[in-house]
Amino acid sequence: MCGIIGYIGDKQAQPILLGGLARLEYRGYDSCGVALAGGTLEVYKDAVRVEKLAKVSPQLDGTVGIAHTRWATHGEPSRVNAHPHLDCTGKIAVVHNGVINNYQRLKQQLISEGHKFVSETDTEVIPHLIEKYYEGDLEKAVEAALREVEGSYAIIVLMADEPGLVAARKDSPLIIGIGDRENFIASDVPAILGHTDRVIYLEEGDIVVVTGDSVRVSRDGVEVDWKEHKVSWSVEDAQKAGYEHFILKEIHEQPRVIRDTLGEYISAAEPIVDVADTSLESMLILACGTSYHAALVGKYIVEELLRIPVRAELASEFSYHGQSPATTMTIVITQSGETADTLKAMKKLKEAGCRVIAVTNVVGSSATRIAEQTVYIRAGPEISVAATKSFIAQLMALYWLALSYSVLDMRTRDSLIMELRQLPEKVQQVLNNEDMISECARYLSKYENAFFIGRGINFAIALEGALKLKEISYIHAEGYAAGELKHGPFALLSPDMPVIAIVAQDNTYEAMLTNIKEVKARGSPVIALAEEGDEVIGELADSVITVPQVAPIFSPVVNTVALQLLAYYTAKQRGCPIDFPRNLAKSVTVE
Ligand code: AGP
Repeated sequence: MCGIIGYIGDKQAQPILLGGLARLEYRGYDSCGVALAGGTLEVYKDAVRVEKLAKVSPQLDGTVGIAHTRWATHGEPSRVNAHPHLDCTGKIAVVHNGVINNYQRLKQQLISEGHKFVSETDTEVIPHLIEKYYEGDLEKAVEAALREVEGSYAIIVLMADEPGLVAARKDSPLIIGIGDRENFIASDVPAILGHTDRVIYLEEGDIVVVTGDSVRVSRDGVEVDWKEHKVSWSVEDAQKAGYEHFILKEIHEQPRVIRDTLGEYISAAEPIVDVADTSLESMLILACGTSYHAALVGKYIVEELLRIPVRAELASEFSYHGQSPATTMTIVITQSGETADTLKAMKKLKEAGCRVIAVTNVVGSSATRIAEQTVYIRAGPEISVAATKSFIAQLMALYWLALSYSVLDMRTRDSLIMELRQLPEKVQQVLNNEDMISECARYLSKYENAFFIGRGINFAIALEGALKLKEISYIHAEGYAAGELKHGPFALLSPDMPVIAIVAQDNTYEAMLTNIKEVKARGSPVIALAEEGDEVIGELADSVITVPQVAPIFSPVVNTVALQLLAYYTAKQRGCPIDFPRNLAKSVTVE
């Protein structure tokens, strides 16, 4: 996810663009850049924050320009990979938010036609495609270029000697701000607040031509009317897109995150992991915190689909006591790519001759420099300290890795891939059930302790649900293997100890029902997560959170989102700060 902004009007564009970028940094902040048109294009960009760019960039004159703040997806943060990107002539500048899934093929085709590329980014193919099709009409050239692009985009195009800005969107947001003898184009409302409260929300597939006193929107080649909205948000509200907290926004971004992450993997020409010289006889997955819970889910997924033994271990423990033969495929999972415990374990694995694969959300992070291979997730910046969308994206990487090398028959594999691609809609169904989950949270928020229990693949989700609840609501929540509760923790069961039981329609179903009865018999209230259509659970549990029916192997995805919402609304009931809990940091860069 990145932030883009364009300005055209009667004022100097540079300060307006930089001010707007600063308010878009929640969308990405590893590098940024500005381009202004004044006869020729003047471009200034670097791998710095917006504040630094404002200090070091020269005074650029011009009343029309574009700017970008980046969350790297292809090509690490650097000046050459920063946006805006140019065509060969240096007359066309483009800023882009999104992921172009077929960029390698497009880039090879353009190179064969004589185009020269300088960056590692997917975005750079866009200005070259526009140059290829430009015959005097910029809008038509942009239309032709975008017909070749597969993936998501919100773009703004600036051409040195063209009077207006051209912009377009598909699967990435883009708005127009209407001013007096000036107009704005931006990823989101925060960028233009303070200049105007008059906004047009562009629709899917819209292409727009903007000058200082006109806005023309077309869709499928036909001009369409547009509707103006009045915005009453504060800047901070707008950065959260109207959500009360970043974590709630990030929870709701998960359908898009699944689409972006899977879209990248499914359309990639190569498998996401090259196992060429590693015999897939065993696997070790290391991580910390929520990422460790993803590793645990990965253990179940890979064991089921590849029929090989998998160890999931805490990186902080492995660094001191762990061993792994060099023949074992080793994967580390780290959202930030900077977790000290994980980096230390990676170095130990490398010293032992292991080939380490990193699954991370941050391009160019330390983990990517140690790993032999990196699998990027496309969660975008995760501002809230509590990991939510990055966890779901990590699961997508593990599902795709396992399905890519599964030993299943083709029909079963294809059926699972079809279900995998339906997960955005399944997650959306959980999100649509938010009010009912917040009712359960009202009930749970009165307690100071809680158990989360699950079996099989959902034991990991019991751990994750407990971690989410404890880190944002400060309730002492413990995740436990449901079958283990009777080996001691039963002593803690009482009317003051609620139990959240994750009940999946798999081979653990009957045992989970038994566990719920045992817990109820000892006085604890039970909140059960169960699939729609389960007619038994309502007789046993005090309250039920229903989740959509999915193949058991995908049940962690819908269960996790339900538990994220449960934790959020419980923390909200308890008046906690939520996005930035006490004592925690988003990236734990110390041991
Ligand atoms: C999760 O909500 C926590 N913020 C924390 O457990 C986190 O998952 C852990 O510190 C690992 O971070 P990483 O994925 O960036 O390595």
